[in-house]
Amino acid sequence: MNFAKVCRLSELPPNSRKIIQLGVHKVALFHYGGEITALGNACLHKAGPLGLGEVAEKYDGYYVTCPWHGWEYNIKTGSAPPGFHDQQSVYEVMIKDEDIYISAQPATKAHRALHDLSIIEDLIKLKYETTPVSKNILGISATNMNDDLPRYSTSESALQMALSYAEEKHGASVKMIKLREHGFRACEGYYSQHMNACTWPCSITEMQPDDGMTQLYRDMILWADIVLLATPIRWGNASSLYFKMAERLNCVQNQITIKDRVLIKNKVASFIITGGQDNIQQVAGQMMCFFTDLGFTFPPFSFLGWSRGWTAEDMDKNVLQFKKSEYIQRTIKEIVDNCLETMRQIKNMHSEKIKAPNPHRQDSFSADIVNPDMNM
Ligand code: FES
Repeated sequence: MNFAKVCRLSELPPNSRKIIQLGVHKVALFHYGGEITALGNACLHKAGPLGLGEVAEKYDGYYVTCPWHGWEYNIKTGSAPPGFHDQQSVYEVMIKDEDIYISAQPATKAHRALHDLSIIEDLIKLKYETTPVSKNILGISATNMNDDLPRYSTSESALQMALSYAEEKHGASVKMIKLREHGFRACEGYYSQHMNACTWPCSITEMQPDDGMTQLYRDMILWADIVLLATPIRWGNASSLYFKMAERLNCVQNQITIKDRVLIKNKVASFIITGGQDNIQQVAGQMMCFFTDLGFTFPPFSFLGWSRGWTAEDMDKNVLQFKKSEYIQRTIKEIVDNCLETMRQIKNMHSEKIKAPNPHRQDSFSADIVNPDMNM
């Protein structure tokens, strides 16, 4: 077998790792437990750089943990932990005259085992449930409360009224997701390491299919024709639950960045924004910006707002006023009517002809700079 000199022994002190280029491949070198070993650098999951991973003694030897989503490999044998069947490529190592050599070809080839993802196959394969005649309206309530001590929520009540009206007046199919009831993990920022680390379906959903966002992905991406999102105003912004959800939708927008693939097709969004004090336009603006970046279409006049001004510190009267507001009764219906009319018009829009004028990976000012640690 041919060997190639890759670095000096002194460049890989004990308890360290290093990524080197070997022809067109990158190889991760490890020096742990008094031994030097070499694995292919590209993780078998999404090609995360194994040479940047933490190494620890566990199971039956030393294992490296992929820094992107945590897959593990024995740094000597390349095998996955007991119970898994992935095999990372392994290179032979030779030390000669204080230099490290590795085999030009892997002594053991990489093999990715089958991972059963059938539980989220509908998301992977994007099995859309909308039809030319469907009228599926998803309400998302972003208010938070202790359901053991329920209180009246103006945003959620308005949303419920809107869904009931859509069902009764237009024969729409409706669903309500209350974000507070769908325990879900916060976005863990995989995108910050590499755009390819933010995957569709979300890597958290892949790791933990019962995470609460899995159902929201299904309902929003595959099922809904219209999304009605209701939020209270908290310190001048949408609720923290809204932002927690929005961060987890990065994986939807990111498909445009890395694959020019728009997951949201022919869907309408509108917003219900309520608060004792004000900032409705700022909240609506933020949400419109985010939802248009996902690919949603808005009807003219795509939000309704309710607030009572800067000095409205009498929140008990806020609810009284809201309940008897004819403005609320009227605008709830108008926003639903507007959504359905817009949906009717865009139903047959050729979404494949709609281009997303968003930056793609090649638009980066550093697109031509090679990161020596990354595999792509
Ligand atoms: S665990 Fe390595 S890329 Fe996902």
